[in-house]
Amino acid sequence: MRMTEFKKRRRSLMRMMSKGDIAILPTAPTMTRSRDVEHPYRPDSDFYYLTGFAEPEAVAVLRPGHEGGEYLLFCRERDPEKELWNGLRAGLEGAKKRYGADEALAIGKLHEALPRMLESSERVYYAIGSHDELDRRLPEWIALTRAKSRSGIRGPREIVALDLILHEMRLFKDKTEIEAMRQSAAAAAEGHKRMMRACKPGMPEYRLESEFLHECAHHGARQASYSAIVGGGANACILHYTENRDLLRDGELVLIDAGCEFDYYASDITRTFPVNGVFSSVQKELYQLVLDAQHAAIAEVWPGNSCDAPHKAAVRLLAKGLIRLGLLKGPLSRLIKKEGYKRFYMHRTNHWLGMDVHDVGDYFQGDKPRPLQPGMVLTIEPGLYIPRDCKEVAKQWRGIGIRIEDDVLVTAEGHEILSAAAPKEIDEIEAWMAS
Ligand code: GLY
Ligand code: MN
Ligand code: MN
Repeated sequence: MRMTEFKKRRRSLMRMMSKGDIAILPTAPTMTRSRDVEHPYRPDSDFYYLTGFAEPEAVAVLRPGHEGGEYLLFCRERDPEKELWNGLRAGLEGAKKRYGADEALAIGKLHEALPRMLESSERVYYAIGSHDELDRRLPEWIALTRAKSRSGIRGPREIVALDLILHEMRLFKDKTEIEAMRQSAAAAAEGHKRMMRACKPGMPEYRLESEFLHECAHHGARQASYSAIVGGGANACILHYTENRDLLRDGELVLIDAGCEFDYYASDITRTFPVNGVFSSVQKELYQLVLDAQHAAIAEVWPGNSCDAPHKAAVRLLAKGLIRLGLLKGPLSRLIKKEGYKRFYMHRTNHWLGMDVHDVGDYFQGDKPRPLQPGMVLTIEPGLYIPRDCKEVAKQWRGIGIRIEDDVLVTAEGHEILSAAAPKEIDEIEAWMAS
C-alpha cells in the first residue's frame, strides 16, 4: 500500500480534531512464544491503518495544525549490532523519509517528550485499554499538568475514545483496502481449492491445513488470519476446533474454516466437503439446506438493507428446512421466536471483516441494527451442527457439521463475493475433487 494512502487517513482523522488536540496511538507489543522465541510480529491494526509502519516499539502522535509538524513518530533508533541479529530498522531518518513522519524521536524519549506535549493539548485522543503502560501513565501525566496550573499550564480538558473514531473509519474500506481484501480472499480461495484436491481418506486433518498454508504463502499471504479449523466428521460440530490431529475418514465430511492475511487484510472462508469426494444423499440434504440459507443470506447484502437481514434470512431458511427434514418440530414462527433452531445453529451469520478477522465497527445505531453501506465487508456463514450424541434426531443426521462462509463486499449496486473462486455448489465441489 502506498504511503499516500496512510497520509490520507491521518488527514481524515485530523479533520475530525481541532488545533490544540493530540492523538496518541501505540502499536502492539511483541509476544513471547516460549523462552526466547517470539510469535511472528503483527503491528496493531489501528496503528498500522494510520501509519503503514510495521516495526514494534512505536507510538504515533498526531497534532493537527501544530507548527513543528502534525505527525510525530516515536520509534526505534538504528543500531548496527541489533540490526545484524534481528533485521533492519527504519530509524528516525527512515520514519521521516519512508513513512512520511514530519518529526521522529527515539522511543526511549517518550516518557520525557509526551508529558510536555500534553501540557499544551486541549483534548487527548487515545484508546483506553490499547497499551498497558500508556493506560497507566497517561492519567499520571495529565494529573501532573494540573499541578502546574499556577504557572499558566492548563493541560488537557477531555479524553476522547480514539478507537471508536478509527473503527468507524475502518468499517468503510477504501479502494486500496478493497484490493488487498480481494487478494486475501483470492489466495485463501486457492488454498481451499488445493485442500479439496489433496483430500484423501486416512489423511490427518493437519495435512490439509499445511496444504492451505502452502498455497496462501505461494500467493504472498504468509500468515493465517486465525488458526485454521479442520474438522473431520463430528469434529466439525466443535465450533473452534483447532487441534486438527484426527484422521479423515471415508464417508465423512470435513469442515475447513481457514483464511489468510494479505497486506494485513484478512480473509475468512469456510468450505465443507466429502472426504472421499462424493456427497452421500443424507449429507447432500443437509448441505444443500445450509447452501440455500447462505444464498438467501447473501441476497440480503445490498446498501440500505439492515445488517441483521442476512442472519434473519438464514435462520428462516434453516429453521424451515430442519422442520421439513424432521430434525425440529414446528410451527416455524414459534421455532424462530423461541430460538429453537439454536440447538443446531448457535452462532450468528455475519461479522465485519477487514484488518481483523472479527473486524471493528458498530453493528447498531442506537438500538437498531445499522444499514449496510458500500465499502463494508462482511462474512456470510450459516451452518448446522448436529452433535454426535443427539438422541432426539434420527441416527443418520448425527455427527454432521456443516458451515459455508464467504467474504462479501457491499457495493453501490449490491454486493461482490470476494471469495467466489472457492467451489461450494455440490456438483462443483464433486467435479473439482474428481478433476
Ligand atoms: N473463523 C472465524 C469465524 O468464522 O468467525
Ligand atoms: Mn471463519
Ligand atoms: Mn467468520
